[in-house]
Amino acid sequence: MKAIVYHKSGSGDVLKLEEIEKPVPKDDEVLIKVRAASVNPLDYHLLRHTFLRRVMAAVSKVKITRPGRDVAGNVQAVGRNVTQFKAGDEVFGACNGAFAEYACARESALAMKPDNISFEQAASSPVVGLTALQGLRDKAQIQPGQKVLINGAAGGVGTFAVQIAKSFGAEVTGVCSTRNVEMVRSLGADHVVDYTRDDFTSSDQQYDMIFDLVSNHSFSEHRRALTPNGMYIGAGILGLHGSMIRVLTGRITELVLSPFVSQKFVSILAKSSREDLTAIAALMEAGKVTPVIDRRYSLSEAAEAVRYLEEGHARGKVVIDCRLPIAD
Ligand SMILES: NC(=O)c1ccc[n+]([C@@H]2O[C@H](COP(=O)([O-])OP(=O)(O)OC[C@H]3O[C@@H](n4cnc5c(N)ncnc54)[C@H](OP(=O)(O)O)[C@@H]3O)[C@@H](O)[C@H]2O)c1
Repeated sequence: MKAIVYHKSGSGDVLKLEEIEKPVPKDDEVLIKVRAASVNPLDYHLLRHTFLRRVMAAVSKVKITRPGRDVAGNVQAVGRNVTQFKAGDEVFGACNGAFAEYACARESALAMKPDNISFEQAASSPVVGLTALQGLRDKAQIQPGQKVLINGAAGGVGTFAVQIAKSFGAEVTGVCSTRNVEMVRSLGADHVVDYTRDDFTSSDQQYDMIFDLVSNHSFSEHRRALTPNGMYIGAGILGLHGSMIRVLTGRITELVLSPFVSQKFVSILAKSSREDLTAIAALMEAGKVTPVIDRRYSLSEAAEAVRYLEEGHARGKVVIDCRLPIAD
């Protein structure tokens, strides 16, 4: 089968389309004929940082040699312990090596694709949907009427977070640049802060919750923008251009100082969960969440897709169509 592979660390440029062996599902895995995949910042972070690949491999016990986590497609075969899926089912979820004609995923990391959602939309949702749902519902325990600010509202996670927060009845403020103000408003945001003109930490407005995908403000600035019992959920590092040292310094500062202030500071790392993917599918099926797709690329253009996302200004999701024929 054709798949995107890399043999050394680097930018999207190191990605190559090659012929490799079709994977065989393990007992608890499903073999998927991939229809669409989507790109996440995790893909370029793993591509660039060998250390991160080693950590992920140690945690997940799977060696990471190919990009692509978000997948949607048709089940082609199932391992002998799989009970929830059968050949032909339309599924979506998380795997390793989604930028390929075929991919294997654990049964527990997949859910059925709703009929009214396209494969591209389904492939757009796993990582970002799980992050937004688990951050807002589980970490923050979001309640109707709460004032929620989403910093980074125009990106993959942000476009989901705005819609999910609205589905919980929150009053939502999205932060994005000028060109995305109308798009974020169209997703249901009650207020939009254009960060090229205003700094949300310098206004009089205070929020019950800040869901941060950018990390471009300090601990004291976040405190100022939170209500006295508000909660800060750190989920992303867009504004730090991937500088791990700055991220760690910021997170350690929050951890150390958090017990001495009335507000709560927490971080989230999304986990794959069939139950949560099913909840996301239900939100999409009901029209409460509609994935925003910025650009579509073919499998042979995967390097370009990753490079585009790495610029940090995608509007919603970047999707890869993994069906053949592929332009060489
Ligand atoms: N914790 C987890 O489990 C988890 C899971 C998924 C992702 N993440 C992290 O969350 C972050 C966001 O992921 P993503 O998939 O949403 O990325 P993304 O799609 O690449 O985000 C791009 C968006 O970021 C916005 N942005 C860039 N600079 C900004 C700024 N200074 N202020 C406000 N918005 C800004 C851009 O909007 P404009 O063009 O309007 O600037 C663009 O729409 C990444 O750091 C990612 O690694 C964490």
